[in-house]
Amino acid sequence: MHETGKRRPPPNVGLRWAIIGVIVAGSAAAFGYVGGWLAPDRLSPKKFVDVLQASGGEHPGYRRNHAKGICVGGRFESNGALQGDSRAALFAPGVSTPVVGRLALPGGNPYAADSSVPIRSFALRFDLADGEQWRTGMNAMPVFPVSTPKAFYDLQVATGPDPKTGKPDPAKAGAFFAAHPEAGPFLGWVKTAKPPASYATETYGSINAFYLRDAAGVRRAVRWKVVPETPAAGDGFPAAGDTDYLAADLVKRLAAGPLRWHLVMSFAADGDAVDDAALAWPDSRRSVDAGTLVIDSWQAQADGPCRDVNYDPTILPQGIEASGDPLLAARSAAYAESYLRRTREEGHLPGAARPKETRP
Ligand code: HEM
Repeated sequence: MHETGKRRPPPNVGLRWAIIGVIVAGSAAAFGYVGGWLAPDRLSPKKFVDVLQASGGEHPGYRRNHAKGICVGGRFESNGALQGDSRAALFAPGVSTPVVGRLALPGGNPYAADSSVPIRSFALRFDLADGEQWRTGMNAMPVFPVSTPKAFYDLQVATGPDPKTGKPDPAKAGAFFAAHPEAGPFLGWVKTAKPPASYATETYGSINAFYLRDAAGVRRAVRWKVVPETPAAGDGFPAAGDTDYLAADLVKRLAAGPLRWHLVMSFAADGDAVDDAALAWPDSRRSVDAGTLVIDSWQAQADGPCRDVNYDPTILPQGIEASGDPLLAARSAAYAESYLRRTREEGHLPGAARPKETRP
């Protein structure tokens, strides 16, 4: 026997090509699905951000929600009280962890009056010594209006400007709330909410639940909040027509010394809704004061360190884990889309047109 010089194809070459074809087509389909091109009705990050943009207007370089804000800086000083419940390094006793924070107003309009919404927000990035990060975005309200990403989207459509008139249609909002009884606790709170004239005197909460995991591997469901040391009394009232009093008040207070909040963890009891941000837990739940958040500096967001932070609530250190609340994954995806848009735009804006709000 001798070789003829003609090479025979390896066995099953057709099958190999078929497998490669399936992989390529599968990857393309996955990209299409994630991008929302294959199923236009499916909620995609783009659709979330488009609907927020439709309400707040187009403001290149700004966040598509919570657009008006100010950067703050400081540290979290752990007292060790949470060490038994979470193995996160920042909860060890005596550990001081630097934070990059942002105080803001919900809504996509960076020029909105501070009195235009009853809610304020506080976002924090904790930079742990070993390079891990904990990012959280907290709102000053007890519960979220809805439980699911789809309901959040529908809420934006129902309360946003009507394409025909350019103004919100109260009938649409009414129909939405009639079909969403889960919004009852939020609506009840909104009716009596009296937002203070200062960021410093607010309590801000995670609203979504998470898990703490201890050194033995046991996990417990929690929600957290930061509770101010600054008493509400003496807030004063903004002068009539003053639309930017929150940042001015903050800057004045920080010039007089640091502001402090306590990081308080509330633990769920059996039967508490862990994956539903529209349902509050009773105040009587076990709670632990984990230490003090000390804020001692501020910077305008146009050039401050919070500008380029995406406060994605699913960026967590070991010892803190996301719950199954479906809002968390939707938030992560939508914040990334908003971040991509604003940072891309920022890069193309001439210096003079860069965002410069926050003018205390
Ligand atoms: C499906 C539901 C939600 C969607 C689609 C959504 C969407 C967004 C978007 C697009 C941003 C701008 C992000 C950026 O460009 O950096 C944002 C900011 C923010 N959101 Fe949400 N959000 C949702 C639910 C929530 C919930 C439940 C909370 C509860 C606390 C929350 C708190 C915040 C805060 C604090 C910020 C401001 C972060 C900062 O200062 O940079 N959001 N949201």
